[in-house]
Amino acid sequence: MSEKRRWLITGARGMLGRDVLAALHRAGTPDDAVTALDRSTLDITDPAAVQAAVEVAVGSADVVVNCAAWTAVDDAESQEAAAFAANAVGPQLLARACAATGARLVQPSTDYVFDGTATTPYPVDAPAAPRSAYGRTKVAGEWAVRAELPHGHWIVRTAWLYGEHGPSFVRTMARLEAEREYVDVVDDQHGQPTWTRDLAERIVAMVDADAPAGTYHGCASGRTSWHGLAAEVFELLGADPARVRTTTSAAFVRPAPRPAYSVLDLSGWDKAGLAPMRDWREALHEAVRTGGVTGR
Ligand SMILES: NC(=O)c1ccc[n+]([C@@H]2O[C@H](COP(=O)([O-])OP(=O)(O)OC[C@H]3O[C@@H](n4cnc5c(N)ncnc54)[C@H](OP(=O)(O)O)[C@@H]3O)[C@@H](O)[C@H]2O)c1
Repeated sequence: MSEKRRWLITGARGMLGRDVLAALHRAGTPDDAVTALDRSTLDITDPAAVQAAVEVAVGSADVVVNCAAWTAVDDAESQEAAAFAANAVGPQLLARACAATGARLVQPSTDYVFDGTATTPYPVDAPAAPRSAYGRTKVAGEWAVRAELPHGHWIVRTAWLYGEHGPSFVRTMARLEAEREYVDVVDDQHGQPTWTRDLAERIVAMVDADAPAGTYHGCASGRTSWHGLAAEVFELLGADPARVRTTTSAAFVRPAPRPAYSVLDLSGWDKAGLAPMRDWREALHEAVRTGGVTGR
């Protein structure tokens, strides 16, 4: 199905953007059906440029995947206006341009829209209650997209991303394994480590499945702590996981508060006729073996 559809990928040089391009290629999408714009060719906060880019690249029934975002979570605390421009104004402009052309929009969002105090997985309609500036800007982006494009959006919340084309916790742990005898990693934050390649394939699949407009949770199944993820990375690299010691968030304070519990409910995929994404551990094994995610 994706052969006839045209796609516009914004933020195309980011970690997810590059994997979305690769997923489209693997799905057999012809190169001339895909427009990939990075920040140097489209700043999504520029209204006229966004309108022109969407008009040229896509039309009715086509799709924009917005992979552009401000993702520096800690920096957003001191630069919230700039983060807001990228994470809220940009998606609003894209959604408005899509509404004018009849195109649909995939808008990635984040577990940081929740406060992290839950003890069971967050359903898609749980109330947003962000505790960080980054989270606030991403919630604003979600609401702008819903308001501008009520029947033509897919908001896909994801979390704990790692991939071949960007810095990530997985890559950092692989580097520290080579550099240090022990690493201390927090054991009191829980989430769903997600490979950008799996997420990119899910985005293409949901569009091809003509999934109903709405909000989805695009995270791997299962759950672990950052400590559990680090230990798994060590083990996959043939290192002793006991070299990963536990610490707590209280001993590792950062400018933006991290949600303690970031597990998102994945049951919503059945309305798109799709199964939840695979288990984080299975994905990580493949990613470390073949996906270039450790940088070594
Ligand atoms: N990474 C995670 O763990 C994680 C977790 C949950 C949700 N998400 C969400 O997943 C999505 C993809 O994240 P990612 O990890 O792929 O991010 P990323 O690697 O940081 O990519 C984002 C891209 O957007 C570009 N960009 C920033 N501002 C822009 C603007 N005004 N106009 C055009 N491009 C702009 C960046 O360019 P520069 O590099 O030049 O700034 C970068 O290439 C984002 O929506 C993010 O909020 C990520």
